[in-house]
Amino acid sequence: SKTFRIAPSILSANFARLGEEVDNVLAAGADIVHFDVMDNHYVPNLTIGPLVCEALKKHGVTAPIDVHLMVKPVDRIIPDFAKAGATYITFHPEASEHVDRTIALIRECGCKPGLVFNPATPLDVLEYTLDKLDMVLLMSVNPGFGGQKFIPYVLDKARKVRQMIDARGLNVSLEIDGGVGPANILEVAQAGVDTFVAGSAVFGAAKDSDPHRYDTVIGAL
Ligand code: DX5
Ligand code: ZN
Repeated sequence: SKTFRIAPSILSANFARLGEEVDNVLAAGADIVHFDVMDNHYVPNLTIGPLVCEALKKHGVTAPIDVHLMVKPVDRIIPDFAKAGATYITFHPEASEHVDRTIALIRECGCKPGLVFNPATPLDVLEYTLDKLDMVLLMSVNPGFGGQKFIPYVLDKARKVRQMIDARGLNVSLEIDGGVGPANILEVAQAGVDTFVAGSAVFGAAKDSDPHRYDTVIGAL
């Protein structure tokens, strides 16, 4: 029996009230906090770093923080995120010179490593790394922005990764990121995904300040 987890992406949250936004989605039933780190180099956007992660921990967030690194180089920011309270740290193999070393570094820092695959990136690197990972994250949009359209061929990729995980009897989470919402989440789950990132579907749901405004959408996911 698989456990399904909802991971709201704070990229689409109101950053002026980030602590409250995170409290509200967790109270509404979200399981983990997806934390998008963009550097205007590896991806064409600029977001948040370890300081914000640390601030969320100090605010009292105890749910796992799922740090999605879209930065290059990768290694030198990893110890900072570990100190800031990251639970998962995932990175794109294209952004690391030495993928095995980066995975080991994340583990040595006390965090759970994951690899992220862009829509068109093949899965070959999993052949020698899957048993060292806690998470595989499949991008179902090109990284850089929230609110993009789900790329359907990624479902086929999800089925492949699920098969690899199960064939090896591993306990690796399969997460998907981009364009996920109530309209397609069932289909995504049927492809073997257990952890669902949703940014605009969650935070775009309502603009008012009712603390329960996320209950309906998270309930629908
Ligand atoms: C995109 C980010 C996603 C993004 C998802 O580069 O990695 O986490 O916030 O947003 P939605 O759910 O709106 O596609
Ligand atoms: Zn992400």
